[in-house]
Amino acid sequence: MKIASLFAGIGGIDLGFQQAGFIPAWANEIDEVCAQTFRLNHIQTKLVVDDINNVKASDIPAVTVLAGGFPCQAFSIAGHKKGFADNRGSLFFQITRLLEEMKEKSELPQVVFLENVKNMYTHDNGNTYKVIKKKLEDIGYHVVSKVLNSSEYGNLPQNRERIYIIAFLDKAKFDRFRWPSPIELSESIDKLICWNTPQDRKYYYTPKMKCYTLLKENIRNKNSIYQYRRVYVRENKSSVCPTLTANMGMGGHNVPLIVDGQGSIRKLTPRECLSLQGFPPSFKIPQGLTDTKVYKQAGNSVSVPVIKRLAEEIYKVLK
Ligand SMILES: C[S@@+](CC[C@H](N)C(=O)[O-])C[C@H]1O[C@@H](n2cnc3c(N)ncnc32)[C@H](O)[C@@H]1O
Repeated sequence: MKIASLFAGIGGIDLGFQQAGFIPAWANEIDEVCAQTFRLNHIQTKLVVDDINNVKASDIPAVTVLAGGFPCQAFSIAGHKKGFADNRGSLFFQITRLLEEMKEKSELPQVVFLENVKNMYTHDNGNTYKVIKKKLEDIGYHVVSKVLNSSEYGNLPQNRERIYIIAFLDKAKFDRFRWPSPIELSESIDKLICWNTPQDRKYYYTPKMKCYTLLKENIRNKNSIYQYRRVYVRENKSSVCPTLTANMGMGGHNVPLIVDGQGSIRKLTPRECLSLQGFPPSFKIPQGLTDTKVYKQAGNSVSVPVIKRLAEEIYKVLK
């Protein structure tokens, strides 16, 4: 069973589906930097680097699943929340445009899989979600959706709530689909963070830095993850990492911090951020990519184990 992925980023959705037994056959992404990471890790997948507006259904091979984690800034609390009025929000309609073109060729995928920020559910008093559901239903799909937290459904120590929208062409398959159950969080941040291995000096805070005194006073607990918010420091006592975001590493949005085994304060490394999204150690980071770019790619991506669990449930009903 093949999957084509739109807004593919670094291919987190593709990887989760692959781990569940699907073949990531085709993908589209506009950003050349994301594409470098994607290509390195999905050598078998045909990646088209272009604006989705230029993609035609005839470019996409016949697939069982069409996936898309379309840009979420337009719906996110951190953004201006303009929704479909924002160019990035309206990109959802590119997905339905492609589906309509596929319908004309009688090549509609059995399943459409969408992922976005939790806020999309309540955005514009629920109208945004209603429009998305209605659009998919008009094309012929039966739609379910649910907000899942990666710490409850992916055995990942990251607090990340995302909406997953799954649409089935076949009503009987839709009826058979079951959401995965919550699972106990046994994966701990201890395993994903290198507390005792010294990292590159650039990740550490030193007394010469302006914020150092504030950090030193507040960042004391080993095994907690902290967020520095310009004038205060927030501790996440639950030993679960706060939501990794696309803009961490840029300006005021800081990468989460820890105090390591030697008592030094440092940022999480890009690799640790990828691990906290469930990317395996074998996932490659292109040489020469700046940390800012990798932080962005990790924050923009998905929690791979959650995708895998959802893909397994989809696989069951398609079989
Ligand atoms: C939320 S991210 C999806 C990340 C992806 N799920 C992953 O696992 O990495 C949205 C992606 O859409 C891409 N994008 C934005 N506008 C686009 C466009 N007009 N055409 C194609 N891709 C676009 C962005 O570059 C970004 O990588």
